[in-house]
Amino acid sequence: MSSLDTVLARLDTRLDGALDHLKALIAIPSISTDPAYAEACRQAAEWLKKDLAEIGFKASVRDTPGHPMVVAHHDGAGPDAPHALFYGHYDVQPVDPLDEWESDPFFPQIVERNGRKVITGRGAADDKGQLMTFVEACRAMIGETGTLPCRVTILFEGEEESGSPSLLPFIEANKDELKADFALVCDTNMWDADTPAISGGLRGLVGEEVIVHAADRDLHSGYYGGAAANPLTVLSRIIGDLHDEAGRVMIPNFYDGVTETPDAIKASWEELERSADGFLKEIGLSEPFGEDGRSIMELTWARPTAEVNGIVGGYTGEGFKTVIPAKAMAKVSFRLVHDQEPEAIRRNFRAFVESRLPEDCRVEFHKHGGSPAVQLPYESGLLTTAKQALTDEWGVEAPIIGMGGSIPIVGTFQTELGMDSLLVGFGLADDRIHSPNEKYEMKSFHKGMRSWARILTALGQKAGRAEGGR
Ligand code: BES
Repeated sequence: MSSLDTVLARLDTRLDGALDHLKALIAIPSISTDPAYAEACRQAAEWLKKDLAEIGFKASVRDTPGHPMVVAHHDGAGPDAPHALFYGHYDVQPVDPLDEWESDPFFPQIVERNGRKVITGRGAADDKGQLMTFVEACRAMIGETGTLPCRVTILFEGEEESGSPSLLPFIEANKDELKADFALVCDTNMWDADTPAISGGLRGLVGEEVIVHAADRDLHSGYYGGAAANPLTVLSRIIGDLHDEAGRVMIPNFYDGVTETPDAIKASWEELERSADGFLKEIGLSEPFGEDGRSIMELTWARPTAEVNGIVGGYTGEGFKTVIPAKAMAKVSFRLVHDQEPEAIRRNFRAFVESRLPEDCRVEFHKHGGSPAVQLPYESGLLTTAKQALTDEWGVEAPIIGMGGSIPIVGTFQTELGMDSLLVGFGLADDRIHSPNEKYEMKSFHKGMRSWARILTALGQKAGRAEGGR
């Protein structure tokens, strides 16, 4: 048996132990966006540090102005081996609406869903289950062979789900320590439950909170109604103006930097045959809602969007209250593609809102993160090696696909550390990330660990650093 075979066998026989680790991590409610969970975020970081130290990494928890980072190093096969930086995030999204969860989001359970074994809980897929596929692969490799085939640095962040505000300064301050030959990221999806995938790009993101203020207090809607400006009406009008009838975003210069997808790429996407029908039917919908005349893949991978993520104001409790509220608030996000500039989009959006404000209203904006879209090379040694390793594990070729979500650090790796990333994840479209009843497939977890063992081994077999990465 080769040492890879014994590592794979160890991952099979010790699956229950790996699940126990994952359950312990999911049980920590590390919701980064809510200050009430700051202590839990630190606890998750400490848990990871301890786990990595037990495996044999030199691990540390590093403070930032926000939630801490976990950084860990393993010398692996020595200075000539390729050097990989693995990134994941231990923070999770809020759990509301809590009453829609079938079981406690922080009490993970192994259950059957749609005839498949899954592990439930907030963060099960995004990103705790995914990052633990890599940690478990390292645990098995070190346990079996005493070392790792590559030098490995691990960086776990606790603010990815809230726009990674501390990340750029942290990377800038620790460049030498974090620079590697390439980055590995496990925070994306497979093509389907039997087909792994490599993501070739990610959309960027701009988040904005908008608060429209009118009168200096809440008003009786009969006494003042008809005369006083209603901030909820004003804000909904502005939000309604964001799109035209054909689904295009109406903010001036919004499409600056967006290019049409080349026909050859579109044709390769057509071959993947993701029909609007299948993609939307699964979530109880039937008609694409975005820009007219574009395929589902173009709409989610190669076109920018404007979405309202939340809107509140006035009385929303039990019964009824006749009131004109003093203010109304919305959270709006933009997914960016190609060369769209986050700060230009933010400026233009703010000007768009201000130009629509009636007399007597004022607006307040709060910024929530901004990251540009990322495009990775379609061909590289890293990609070829990973493709082969994934084929060996899954028995089918991994397509290179787009990904509609955002992982802000991937752009920072390119710009600050000059590193490309390999985006291999084992999530599925129906994992319900960011929604109630999040889960991670047992098959994703098990074969995900095995895939990383294969990928790291194959990368380590490349002679010397230069060849290892690209
Ligand atoms: N894992 C996701 C990104 C993702 C989503 C990949 C869907 C594949 C499919 C990531 O953790 C995430 O949710 N990112 C946030 C980033 C944001 C809050 C800055 C996102 O995309 O909303």
